[in-house]
Amino acid sequence: MMEPALDFMLQALPDHTGKRLLIADEQLDTQALLTLKPIPDLTLLTNRYDLYLAAQENNIPCQFNDMDLAELNDRYQLIAYRISKEKALVHHIINQAPHYLAEQGQLLLCGYKNEGIKTYISKAERYLNTRAEVSKGERQMKLAAFTPQAPGEPLDDRHYRDLVCIGEPDSLALYSKPGQYGWNKIDKGSEALINACREYVNATQPPSTVLDLGCGYGYLSVMAWALGAKHIVATDNNAAALASCRYNFEFHNIPGEVIADDCASDIHHQYEMVLCNPPFHLGFDTRHDLTEKFLHSISNHLKNNGVAFVVVSQFIALETVAPGYFKSIELVSRDKSFKVFKLSS
Ligand SMILES: C[S@@+](CC[C@H](N)C(=O)[O-])C[C@H]1O[C@@H](n2cnc3c(N)ncnc32)[C@H](O)[C@@H]1O
Repeated sequence: MMEPALDFMLQALPDHTGKRLLIADEQLDTQALLTLKPIPDLTLLTNRYDLYLAAQENNIPCQFNDMDLAELNDRYQLIAYRISKEKALVHHIINQAPHYLAEQGQLLLCGYKNEGIKTYISKAERYLNTRAEVSKGERQMKLAAFTPQAPGEPLDDRHYRDLVCIGEPDSLALYSKPGQYGWNKIDKGSEALINACREYVNATQPPSTVLDLGCGYGYLSVMAWALGAKHIVATDNNAAALASCRYNFEFHNIPGEVIADDCASDIHHQYEMVLCNPPFHLGFDTRHDLTEKFLHSISNHLKNNGVAFVVVSQFIALETVAPGYFKSIELVSRDKSFKVFKLSS
């Protein structure tokens, strides 16, 4: 089912003619994407590789990048954006919009009150030097249409494009940027995973090959490399995560590669070790089936004698799903928030 605010905004698209750009992140799923097929002159910009693949399969023109409108090299009569969860990203997109609209082109913003749509509308009105035409939907949803005039002072996007050092665990600098979940912190669950992995490596030997599945900015890869892993492949679905992870690989000279993919579905190798802190949230829903998708991928990518370390929230019943994929399932550590498992086939 289409997310209601996105649906509300898409219903307004046929009122516009000319080239249209839809900015799509966590709110559009690959099923809902199919409903876009009949809309003429529509291009998609997404930071999600799974959406990019689905758009390609369905012949919908699509650009995959870290929400950089410049790469599209075009101007649009309409830019439609169902606002994201992250403020820096919303500001980054509003800031770019007037520079990629044709004359008299319009920006559409849609979202709910509890997501801050009212504030975004007033900020955009100030920046774009115009009054928005606002329509209201259910549950305090708002759709605002702006016809920008000469733009003023840009909104604070927390230097959206810049990579910054967010910490130095064990004196290893970690770089990251906005545009990905938890971009400016070290995930407590991932820290617990690395502690379990360290104990294992100390008792055995460093793995020759590692897959970091859902790598984010690359915390698990950097730490695995410091533990002596020889070759690391890191993969993620999100463009900001991939950009940060690539930077960390270059900065530390980590042997391996960083690959854009949907749950490693196009990676056809097996690894001695797989490390994974699977995503728990998709959009605003909690999706337990995502964990299963990741478990399936881990089992496909693990060598016969390989071992995987996986951390999940304590609410995820990994122990009931994992036996479908692994022979050995060992709970190696837990606290009030996370459980770390060692899995092998
Ligand atoms: C909880 S974060 C973990 C990030 C990182 N491994 C860490 O430990 O800090 C989950 C990661 O999974 C990624 N992800 C979500 N869906 C994905 C998919 N279909 N394929 C690959 N990665 C995905 C997210 O972009 C995010 O970076």
